[in-house]
Order: sequence, then structure tokens, then C-alpha cells
Amino acid sequence: MNKVEINEKIKQGEKSQAVRKKLVERTRESEKVARDGKMSLAQEVVQTVDLPHPIYIDSAEGPYLTDIDGNQYIDLTGGFGPHVLGNKPEVVERALQSQIEKGWHFGIPSAGQKQLSALIKEADACVDQVAFCNSGTEATMYAFRAARAFSGKQVVALFDGSYHGVHDYALVKADMKSDRSRPSPTTLGTGVPNVVADDLMLMLPYRDETAFDLIREHKDELAVVVIEPVQSSNPRLDNQDFFNKLREVCTECGVLLMFDEVITGFRIAYGGCKEYYGIEPDLVTYGKAVGGGLPIGAVGGRKNIMDTFSGADGAPFIFTGGTFSGNPLTMGAGLAALEYMNENKEDIYPYLKKQGDRLSQDVNQFCKSENIPAKLMNAASMFVLGFGSNEINSSRDIDSSLRIVEREFYLHLLGHDVIVPGIHLAFLSWAHTEAVVDKVIDAFQLSFMDLRHDGLI
Ligand SMILES: Cc1ncc(COP(=O)(O)O)c(C=O)c1O
Repeated sequence: MNKVEINEKIKQGEKSQAVRKKLVERTRESEKVARDGKMSLAQEVVQTVDLPHPIYIDSAEGPYLTDIDGNQYIDLTGGFGPHVLGNKPEVVERALQSQIEKGWHFGIPSAGQKQLSALIKEADACVDQVAFCNSGTEATMYAFRAARAFSGKQVVALFDGSYHGVHDYALVKADMKSDRSRPSPTTLGTGVPNVVADDLMLMLPYRDETAFDLIREHKDELAVVVIEPVQSSNPRLDNQDFFNKLREVCTECGVLLMFDEVITGFRIAYGGCKEYYGIEPDLVTYGKAVGGGLPIGAVGGRKNIMDTFSGADGAPFIFTGGTFSGNPLTMGAGLAALEYMNENKEDIYPYLKKQGDRLSQDVNQFCKSENIPAKLMNAASMFVLGFGSNEINSSRDIDSSLRIVEREFYLHLLGHDVIVPGIHLAFLSWAHTEAVVDKVIDAFQLSFMDLRHDGLI
């Protein structure tokens, strides 16, 4: 089916039309907010699903979100990743309340930065020191700068299909017309200077050993090789061999290796993917979960590299800043969340893996038995649904022409009271009980059957 045929089936589809009608009728307040806000807001940060209008959330609790019309949904958004413990966990709420009573922003540091950095260091064998900022974007920006300063080299290597935030050096992707094994970088969106992609970045193929040849060829210009140990476009945990070799090649070439654990840190395991794979990168970035649900980013690494942040011991100094970096409210929330996760890690991480694996096994089994061309890919509690019959080895294998079917699926899922984020990477949390996960599995099955009813799959 081509795009025009898919759109026609959606237009004519009994289930497609019924779910739109139901959603529009029950989200009148959201529709009003969307309409009234149009004049002043340039760009909604992220839209959830392809409704005639976005829906707006009023409150969150455990595994649920409630919109401003009072509809409750099972939340698979996870705040885009931070909520490993679910929405509004009591330990974090208490820490926030106690900090709010004392004041929430001082400029001059509270003791929180020292305490949270100590917890991160304790969790991570490869981290001697940590520096805080306000987002994952800032964390990767500072980490690239530190790597360039430390190594005296300019080029940063990223993998095809990765995401590292929205600063200029992260807005570089593989040109889809270029060779899959030797992808060439191109900038994403306008406004990023061409020189970034042309001169300062190297693009590597994901899960393809040609990457090692490219690192060897470019070792004299390469400051750092950066990898998301789980790509959000393609979540999986079967990269042990590739990562072992990547570590060896970076060491052999004298090139720093950085794990971007903004999503995976304190989610895949307490010690992130470094612990899961038993690999020690030189630099690590964090965000999301380390702030307990408040805005945060952090860079961690070996002391001689982290010395660039202060210029200590004669290290080349890099400039950093940030009015709100390390603010007491975020530090307090992060501390409360990490302390809880640390105390309960023997229960939390096996549970998250078990539920994520169960969800994907049950959904995939259903798709197989019903002959539905779709696959749920997961790395523990992170997952993505992909339509199509291709074997997925990297994000290049995802059939983007089927994105319309995927969006339609999420619309039906919303009609069955389960909400998946606009970015389509979804999450389970510690607050998603087995019974809640059962409901998610049922909602997936019902949504597939809705698509089938309308002839879309
Ligand atoms: C791996 C990775 N790095 C960096 C970022 C950017 O983080 P933030 O959205 O906090 O700027 C993200 C965001 O999803 C991410 O997944």
C-alpha cells in the first residue's frame, strides 16, 4: 500500500473515524487550550499523537496521566525517560517539599551537588568526577568540548541513527543517500553551519565493523567516539561483541570513548549500560533519571579528562556555565530518587527487565499468530513499535513509509486509554504493576485489531 492508499483507508475506516470522534468528544478542554494558545506559542514542545488537536495533561500519579478533561491514561511516556520510579514517587515528592520550604534557587551551591556527584561516582566504576548542567543536550555539548580540549583533536564521531540532543554538534545525521557502511554526515534542519558536518564530525555505521576501520583511518583527528549504548530509534541489548570491539579499537587508536547514557543511565541497570555490558568508557553523559524528574544533565569521567572543567592540574580549561546548573531543587530530587533506586536496585532492575521483555514477547507472539507485520523492540523497560517485515539491524532498516500506520496505531491505543509519546520511544516504570502491564498488552492487541478491521494491516 502506498501513502495515498493508506490515507484513503484511514479516511474511510470505521474504527479510524470512531476513535477520532471518541477522542474529540472527550477532550473538549484540550481543544480549547490548543485553539486559544495558537496566537502566542510558536512551537509545542512535543505533541503526543496525531489527534486533530494535542491533549494537555493536568496531573500524574504512579503509572497514570490525567488530562485537563479528566480522562485517565496508562502512561508509557515516562516523562520522556526520567520517571524510572513512575510519576510523582513519594520519596521525590517529600524531598521537593522539604527543599521548597527552604528555598529553591540560591546561585551559590547547596551541599546537594557534592552529595549527588558522590552517588553517581559510587554507581559508576569509570567515573572519578561529575559536573552538572540542566539537560542532556548541555551534557553532550560539554562532553564533546571536554574531549576536544583534552585530546587536542577536533573531530567527534557519532553513529548513524543516534540522538544526542539539539546543540549544533548533535544535529548531524547520516545522509541517507550515502553508503550505509561509510555514511557521510549532514546537518539536521537549517541553521546549523555546514562546516560542522563537513569538517568537525565523522559518521559511523551502527553494528557494522566498518566503523572500526573508519576509527583507525581517522584516529589522528578524532577526539572522541560517542555512542548511545541503546539507540532510542532501535532499542536492543545484544551489542556485547560490538561494544567490546569498539572499546578495544578506541584504546588501540588513542581515541576517547564516550557512552551517552542520558536515557539508559539508572534505567537499564543502576550503573547504566556500562554495568550491563561491563565496559568502561572514558566519558559518560547522564540526564533524565539522575534528576528524579527535574531538569538535569551531567558529565562524568576519568579525573584527568574532568579536570578540563576546572583547569585543575594544568588541564586545558573549558568554559561552562548555567544559572540553574546544580540547583538545590534538582539535586534534592535526584538524590531522593537515586538513594531509593540504590537501596532497591536488586528488585527494581530485574523487575523492569522482566516486564519489558514480557510486554515485547507477548505483543510479538500476538503479531506472529495474527500475521501482523509489526515488531516491538525493547531494551529492558524502553521500547519502540515498528511496522514492516524488515529485519531491523539499525534505524536504516525501519520502513519510514509505514509511519502513518504507526501513528494511527497510537491513536487507537489512546482510544484504549494508553498514551505513548510523540517520539514513539516508550517506557515502563517501577510503578507499572503486572496488572497494568497486562492492560497495556490488551490495549496493543485491541489496537492492532482496529487497524486490521480498517484494512491497514
Ligand atoms: C541519548 C540522549 N542524549 C541526549 C539527549 C538530550 O537530552 P535533553 O532532552 O535533556 O536535552 C537525549 C534526549 O532524549 C537522549 O536520548
